[in-house]
Amino acid sequence: MELGSIPAVGFGTWPLVGDAAYEAVSQALDIGYRYIDTAMIYDNEGCVGKAIRDFDIERQDIFVASKLPRRFHGRQAALDAVAESSARMGLDHLDLYLIHWPNPDQGLYLETWQGLLDARDRGLVTHVGVCNFTVEYLELLYQHTGELPVVNQVELNPYHPRAELREFHREHRILTQAWSPLGRGGELLSEPALREIASRHGVSEAEVILRWHASLGVMPLPRSGNAHRQRQNLRAVDGELEAADLEKIAALTGKGGTPLDPRTFVQRW
Ligand code: A2P
Repeated sequence: MELGSIPAVGFGTWPLVGDAAYEAVSQALDIGYRYIDTAMIYDNEGCVGKAIRDFDIERQDIFVASKLPRRFHGRQAALDAVAESSARMGLDHLDLYLIHWPNPDQGLYLETWQGLLDARDRGLVTHVGVCNFTVEYLELLYQHTGELPVVNQVELNPYHPRAELREFHREHRILTQAWSPLGRGGELLSEPALREIASRHGVSEAEVILRWHASLGVMPLPRSGNAHRQRQNLRAVDGELEAADLEKIAALTGKGGTPLDPRTFVQRW
């Protein structure tokens, strides 16, 4: 699937594993999700891939993304990671492969990026991108390779709207994706300001939040194991918020827990 026809909402799969991952992805595809997000470190590529393979649809009509973990940083290792993820998912190729975290303590994300460009040039993956990269790291990728990622997937929600990063993405045509769009573990769902907006519009808090992402041109990747909530999340972006709602949501900036800092975050493996 071409990046231009990427859906407005994707289906996140962390921390679903085993049968729960298989069931959730099968159900999500049935409901109409056409973008599935996984990662090698989620330990679910096998069951997520099987759900995709078992679903009765042309492969080209589903967009599949996975991510490269810390221990596959390096130019050759990046090629190996793409091959490993594809084999684990049982798919000939992936639509998008992302560096999961920059892990700057290892000092290898530039080589890793070069390896992903090699993988793309060899046709092993259609698009390559990153997650959790700062403007500074993105600029370094460009300085060393002349290429920027097509996607940067970051922690982005009303507590952390990441205006500066989004502006950089807009200037450089990088698609912004949001992981844990409802706040980690859904922490934003009990925010009184969102509850008020939701009840005024007769929708759920989750719908308000995902609509907010869409209004910023951000693609959210909500995760739910529940069919009703999956459906709600997929449809959420169809509605609109009023200017006054957006102002209210803007007042939440900086509240909530501290986002993970990619300059110091060390991935488990
Ligand atoms: P559930 O799977 O029971 O629907 P994270 O993004 O960090 O993975 O957290 C997502 C959390 O938000 C999960 O606990 C999920 O629970 C919950 N969730 C997802 N969609 C909705 C929704 N539309 N309404 C309420 N809770 C939701």
